[in-house]
Amino acid sequence: MQRLDLCSAEEVTPGNALKVEAGDLTLAVFNVDGEYYVTDDLCTHGPGSLAEGYIDGDVVECNFHNGQFNIKTGEVVSPPCMVPVKTYKTVVENGRVFIETD
Ligand code: FES
Repeated sequence: MQRLDLCSAEEVTPGNALKVEAGDLTLAVFNVDGEYYVTDDLCTHGPGSLAEGYIDGDVVECNFHNGQFNIKTGEVVSPPCMVPVKTYKTVVENGRVFIETD
């Protein structure tokens, strides 16, 4: 297992997201009511950045074609996206946000 340090928890306030590059990954770190979730930043439908999307509760809307994903599960909430976005096991420790990958 590998642990990647993404950002300070303070950098992502509730209802917002931050785009982070870590290793060869480009990720979106979300804060939903004080809980942190991490997905791939790239929309599965095209070039949209989910960290730059519109967040409503636990749903993020891609700002390209308005497809929606559940931030917690990665599942598609609304088309035109068809493929779920990858989510990562997220850990917050000592004020830092990490993901754990295999
Ligand atoms: S690129 Fe995200 S909905 Fe099309």
